[in-house]
Amino acid sequence: MALFGKKNNDNNVQFEILPKNIGIIMDGNGRWAKKRALPRSAGHKAGAEVFRTISKECGRLGLESATFYAFSTENWKRPKEEVDAIMRLFKDYLLEAKSDITAAGDMKMKFIGERDGMSKELLELMDEAEEDTSEHCGTTIYLAVNYGGRLEICDAVNKLIAEGKTNITEKDISDNIFTPPECDLIIRPSGEQRLSNFMLWQVSYAEMWFTDKLWPDFKPTDLHKAIIDFQNRGRRFGGV
Ligand code: FPP
Repeated sequence: MALFGKKNNDNNVQFEILPKNIGIIMDGNGRWAKKRALPRSAGHKAGAEVFRTISKECGRLGLESATFYAFSTENWKRPKEEVDAIMRLFKDYLLEAKSDITAAGDMKMKFIGERDGMSKELLELMDEAEEDTSEHCGTTIYLAVNYGGRLEICDAVNKLIAEGKTNITEKDISDNIFTPPECDLIIRPSGEQRLSNFMLWQVSYAEMWFTDKLWPDFKPTDLHKAIIDFQNRGRRFGGV
């Protein structure tokens, strides 16, 4: 169910055939900052603002869920100063998450990724945001932090082994990953055309949509364009 009704700026999005689950790789913050002779942290700050705008737009459109890739298990390799800046932005967001999300309607917040490596303070705030929104019935916003697609699959398999499973099926893995098992549409800005270890299980039949725009320049109209493009593709899932 869409949160605020449909506005006129949806540019022909067909609400009856929305992608259920989309994945967004928030890329290009560093280049955005460099173009302006700003520190990379300024790019991430601008990117965090765009995350807020676009996650709310996902809720307004009435998507079932959207997963945003904020920090990968590989991103720890970045300079400490940059990692600290991203974690600070993450904390700032979490401190306001409940009011931000509640003001935007009925969205549910979930975090996917490894807890190991995250600070106790952030983990507590993440748990709180999940709890505070757990009764909400609108769009689920998954924020992938300290996340790796291969690790997610390994975690699912290890969990199943620990439960005594010996013949692991696709359904078993689908039931034990962090998000819904099918992602319909992947959006990646910044001109890069790769998955970067994002939702590897979920993307089997995902449509891919790329734009040269950098993430801090990404607008709700770009999200609409990606969805309209998705709605005009023929999806055959291996059939005819
Ligand atoms: C990739 O762009 C971006 C990241 C690794 C960090 C993304 C972080 C945010 C959008 C802010 C997080 C905060 C919240 C609240 C979600 P890049 O730095 O690799 O850009 P580049 O390829 O241009 O260098």
